[in-house]
Amino acid sequence: MKVLGIETSCDETAAAVVDAERRIHANLVLSQLAEHAPFGGVVPEIAARSHLDHLDSLIARALDEAGLGFAELDGVAATAGPGLIGGVFVGVMTGKAIAAARGLPFVAVNHLEGHALSVRLTDGLAFPYLLLLVSGGHCQLAAVEAVGRYRRLGGTIDDAVGEAFDKTAKLLGLGYPGGPALERAAAEGDPGRFALPRPMLGRTAPDFSFSGLKTAVRQQAADAGLLDAGPGNPAARDLAASFQAAVGDVLEDRCRRALALFSRRYRAAGPLVVAGGVAANRYLRARLDALARQIGTVLVAPPPALCTDNAAMIAWAGVERLRLGLSDPLDFAARPRWPLEEMHGEMHGEIPGEIPGEIPGAANPAAAKA
Ligand code: KG4
Ligand code: ZN
Repeated sequence: MKVLGIETSCDETAAAVVDAERRIHANLVLSQLAEHAPFGGVVPEIAARSHLDHLDSLIARALDEAGLGFAELDGVAATAGPGLIGGVFVGVMTGKAIAAARGLPFVAVNHLEGHALSVRLTDGLAFPYLLLLVSGGHCQLAAVEAVGRYRRLGGTIDDAVGEAFDKTAKLLGLGYPGGPALERAAAEGDPGRFALPRPMLGRTAPDFSFSGLKTAVRQQAADAGLLDAGPGNPAARDLAASFQAAVGDVLEDRCRRALALFSRRYRAAGPLVVAGGVAANRYLRARLDALARQIGTVLVAPPPALCTDNAAMIAWAGVERLRLGLSDPLDFAARPRWPLEEMHGEMHGEIPGEIPGEIPGAANPAAAKA
């Protein structure tokens, strides 16, 4: 079974062909970085227009690279949300048009499900697993039980972690895109130089909050004269490293708590999976890897190129759905908002943050001390 995947939900135009044997026949990503860089962030109208300009030829190139024609495909999968709706429309309309013209089944893929299932493409991982999904717009913990079955454990109450990376990088003038630029600067900085808060550490429910951290970084940057300082400034690199270490502490603590809740429900210590753009960060991967080992499980993470937005994960979600006999009608409406636990109209509920009989606040004694 070979499926064409299309991804246009943010600032990457992507097309890929993947098969049910987990082979990636082609995986092309066209970044719009240069188009958005002058604005310091993604401009939705520019993104949509650029997807429209490039998607057709990118799909043709992907098929060419895979050595396949439309006739050899078994389905078309396109990101149908959540995301910037203008771009999502471009991908969905293109996918539907190919499906209609070629009589192929169409799969409307939830972008978050694409990230969530990507470790099954790269590592053939079995269900269930605990997923930490960290990207520019999302930060959540969910138990992945099956294709389409996601149970929420926690999420951010304000900013996504990728957003915190991007904003911190911007205010320190580290470069665009912010996440990778901040990681590079932090690698040469002293994480102990600036004292920053660790929001939500030790809380019972595995939720996140990053706005307080962001504000603290802004204050310290202003006090130390580091606004727009740039990566050449050693103190700016120290602040970047201090920020990244604070994020590492928070992610480790929240995942530790979620793993406890997960093991209670599924009688399994893990595995822990990290996906989404922020999962490309090597420092954070190392922190989560250490946590998983400590707990007696493993961290599974896609290679960095499959953590950031790509169409291979969308094609793979298509494979997973099609082989269960799931496809979508050609009048499926794109969704700007589409929570993971609300897949195709089904709600799969939450795993409560409290363990009966547990003393509140004693969820993670090690963290409470820190
Ligand atoms: O999954 P993704 O490519 O797009 C969304 O669905 O949001 O994630 C993009 C986010 C951006 O906020 C970007 O700064 C962040 O992932 N990111 C990183 C790194 N690479 C990308 N954050 C930290 N360190 C990185 N190396
Ligand atoms: Zn994404």
